[in-house]
Amino acid sequence: MKKVLFIIGSLRAKSFNRQLADVAEQLLAGRVEVERLDISDVPLVNQDKEFPAPEAVDRIRKAVSETHALWIFTPEYNGSYPGMVKNALDWLSRPLVAGDYATPTCIAGKVVAISGAGGKAATAGSCAKLTELLTFIRAEVLESQTGVVIAPESWATDVLTLSDEQREALRQQAEALIAKIEK
Ligand SMILES: Cc1cc2nc3c(=O)[nH]c(=O)nc-3n(C[C@H](O)[C@H](O)[C@H](O)COP(=O)(O)O)c2cc1C
Repeated sequence: MKKVLFIIGSLRAKSFNRQLADVAEQLLAGRVEVERLDISDVPLVNQDKEFPAPEAVDRIRKAVSETHALWIFTPEYNGSYPGMVKNALDWLSRPLVAGDYATPTCIAGKVVAISGAGGKAATAGSCAKLTELLTFIRAEVLESQTGVVIAPESWATDVLTLSDEQREALRQQAEALIAKIEK
């Protein structure tokens, strides 16, 4: 069975993006294997500490190397994706051996799906900038993306409720991702 690795760009216990990932996982159930990548312990990029890489960096690189695709669920922070996501992707974009820019990195060529839950812009800025970053580091960004506007009542309850349209958009994205990696 093909594998999809989820990255959730929020550390918040009741994260709406984590709840969106929960729905996506249900949509993928039985079709692909889903794993979640913890990026909370990845240290800040420091070129003095690249070789050998920190243990948490080795761990995320191994997980990314072994997956068929990634699916990133990103909040929008000030019109962009959170720094934690940038930091992890920066590590993934670096060579494994000092000075070796010829060998493809573990993120190069990986299929990456992007979704986000946020305020009224539906994470448009976050998803667009993340697309730009992923393209820059040579990942293959799935064209189908889902941006969810968090419903007014959800802000009070911390429970993500999706409209039929939002759920359908996520379902279509899940199908597009499966089709892409089954090719
Ligand atoms: C630093 C910061 C900046 C934010 N900027 C935006 C923003 O530009 N647009 C937006 O829709 N929401 C913004 N928010 C609100 C988040 O959308 C909201 O906190 C959301 O719940 C975060 O996702 P999560 O529930 O997965 O943690 C911001 C939140 C933080 C902490």
